[in-house]
Order: sequence, then C-alpha cells, then structure tokens
Amino acid sequence: MAKLEMLFPRQEIDMAVKRLAEEISRDFRDKTPIVLGVLKGSFIFLADLVRRLEFPLEIDFITLSSYKNGVSSCGEVKMAGSFNRDIKGRHIIVVEDIVDTGLTLHYLLECLRSGSPASVKLCALLEKPSRRKKAVDIDYLGFTVPDSFIVGYGMDCAERYRNLPDISCLNQEDCP
Ligand code: IMP
Repeated sequence: MAKLEMLFPRQEIDMAVKRLAEEISRDFRDKTPIVLGVLKGSFIFLADLVRRLEFPLEIDFITLSSYKNGVSSCGEVKMAGSFNRDIKGRHIIVVEDIVDTGLTLHYLLECLRSGSPASVKLCALLEKPSRRKKAVDIDYLGFTVPDSFIVGYGMDCAERYRNLPDISCLNQEDCP
C-alpha cells in the first residue's frame, strides 16, 4: 500500500480556490476571457475554479507533452488535441495544476503570446520553486510546495490518484 502524507485537505483547497476566483474576478469581470486548462492535471481545479467565476467566459483545454524526439509545434513542448483557435485580441487565463521545472509553462506561454492575444495570465494551484529551470511568472497561485511528488485533486502518479479529493505527497518509491 502506497504511503500518502496529506499536505492540503479539501477544505483548505476550497479556500484557496475561492481566493483565486476572487482575484481573477477582480481582473477579468468585464473581459470575457478564455480559461485554458492544461490537461490532464488541471481538470478538477479548473472545474472548481470556473464555478466560482460569475461572469462571461469561455473554457478550452490543451494537452501538452515534453519534447521527445518528436515533431514540436511550438519549441520544446508538443501540443496535442484540438486547441487550434484564433486567440488574437483575446484575454487568456492558463490554468495549470503544478509548475515544477517551469519548462512546460514557459514554452506554452511563449507559444500563446505568438498568437497576439490581448493578455496571457497564469493561474497555478501549486508551484515547486526549488526545481525551477525556466522562469515563469505565476499571476494567481494557490500554494507553494516542497520538492516532493504530489498527487490528488487531479494530479497523478502514473495515471493513479487523480480522484483523491485532498492533495498529498507520495513516497518516491511508491511511484512506478
Ligand atoms: P514542469 O516541470 O513545470 O514542466 O511540469 C510539467 C508537468 O509535470 C506539470 O504540469 C504536471 O502535470 C507534472 N508534474 C510536475 N510535478 C508533479 C508532481 O509532483 N505531481 C504530479 N504531476 C507533476
């Protein structure tokens, strides 16, 4: 049985999501932004967040994977799925589960900016600053976490644990 150590119980996550929603609402109430979730890890966070945003918005998703010898549509991050729309003049709020090395988000944000949006902001539930390789500005941040493997509330280890309602640390040996 894998050993999990609880970091943030669901009530604490709820309070953080509420705070983030208030910050985003102040900035975007009259802007009809596109809320862009990075799959798969952000799916629960995004679902909770957008239900607290009581103004007009659109929701979209993007799937990214690290560059591994494959064809890359935007620098070092490979985009998959159907996000291929005109974002010129639009306000984009990228919603991510966790910023770790920053590589994924650095390239995604650059890629989005090349589409001439009105603005691009990043909302991340978690960040692990100790592992950062690329600088990424997080405009709306839930929590800072230590350098450990995090699961639950959408985040996985080998596709497991996404369904756990709390956020926990997983023993490295328990991750295949
Ligand atoms: P990056 O290193 O900042 O490029 O992180 C890319 C992706 O790795 C994140 O969006 C997460 O999906 C995943 N990731 C990084 N650290 C963790 C973790 O501790 N638990 C689960 N997923 C993680």
